[in-house]
Amino acid sequence: MEKPLLQIALDTYDLPSALGPLQKAAAYIDVIEVGTILCLAEGMRAVQVIRSLFPEKTILADVRIAEAGSIISKMAYDAGADWVSVVSGAAPDTAEVVLKEAQSRGKDVQIELSDGWTWGMAQKWADLGIQQVITHRSRDAEAKGNLTWSQEDFDTVCRLHEMGFKVTVTGGVKAQDIPLFAGLPVYIFIAGRAILGAADPAVAAQEFQNVIARTFG
Ligand code: 5RP
Repeated sequence: MEKPLLQIALDTYDLPSALGPLQKAAAYIDVIEVGTILCLAEGMRAVQVIRSLFPEKTILADVRIAEAGSIISKMAYDAGADWVSVVSGAAPDTAEVVLKEAQSRGKDVQIELSDGWTWGMAQKWADLGIQQVITHRSRDAEAKGNLTWSQEDFDTVCRLHEMGFKVTVTGGVKAQDIPLFAGLPVYIFIAGRAILGAADPAVAAQEFQNVIARTFG
């Protein structure tokens, strides 16, 4: 099994607040996520700036496309994103046009699984040729006190993997949570606040990489 990658989620209200921790942690980061909040606050300029500063890194623009998939994905890819996100509630036609745009550029798409997605929908994404999905504990669920990772989460990761997807796990992930996923086919762990909010983002990101290596080594 491949060692999972580490993705940093930059969900700040402005670019300088994201760049400070990112510059410190970058050596330990495999994928940079320009988070939904940062995309809304700063627009595609945030993607452009981060692309220019980190030309060698994979960048996800977490634009959560629900409609106008062709236009929004073009904006993100033109700004320098490698991947864009599409919400699971988007129509299959929307996912399809984004996938076509991605494929025409050698880029990729992630479907972000939110409440209400079904296995039937997942099969449709697989049939379209979508390769990546993000399974997450939502901030809203977390705010209601749902702070655990359950067997249902682990079974979901395995079943999505068996369907052929590369599966990303996110939502308040902390370094100490990683061993819970031992032996599971996780493609990427995303960490936002656990790195951005740390006293030393470099130490926090390095700790994630150490735990990932120990758990999946
Ligand atoms: C929220 C997101 C975040 O980017 C993701 O959850 C990672 O951030 P954090 O580790 O702070 O929860 O997409 O839905």
